Amino acid sequence: MISKKMQDAINEQINAELFSSYLYLSMSAQAEDWNLPGFAVWLKKQSEEETEHAEKLYEHLIDRSGRVLLKAIAAPATEWKSPVEMFEEVYAHEQKVTSLIHKLLATARSENDYAAEVMLHWFVEEQVEEEANSSEIAERLKMIKDSPNGLMMMDRALGARE
Ligand code: FEO
Repeated sequence: MISKKMQDAINEQINAELFSSYLYLSMSAQAEDWNLPGFAVWLKKQSEEETEHAEKLYEHLIDRSGRVLLKAIAAPATEWKSPVEMFEEVYAHEQKVTSLIHKLLATARSENDYAAEVMLHWFVEEQVEEEANSSEIAERLKMIKDSPNGLMMMDRALGARE
């Protein structure tokens, strides 16, 4: 069984992960419009990963006899000025998600919910990786600036994401 407070907090996080998925899918569509198919692949995969994050939390609630209560997902932005602006936003968004995960972990601790705490350790580690990846791409794009060759190379590299 899970406490009402913890259940509500996990439901909030499910919503945040689904919003992340929606945001990255919107970015992927914008990258397609820019004719940057590699960026589009990377962002679509990122979107799918975010859905998996939501599902992980969903399964945890089900396993704990909690109730999954889905809420409306906010509409994401649909336009970005440039790949660099887009990836600066990805990095900022991941930093925000990290703070949400840390807050959720603090709630688990205050509720003495050891099962949720152990489950959330995976998310803490995942956020380290998410921030590192998005920050690296944003920094590389800043170095590339307006070089079409640099952008094409980056597009090829991002398109190789497994
Ligand atoms: Fe589910 Fe990118 O954090």
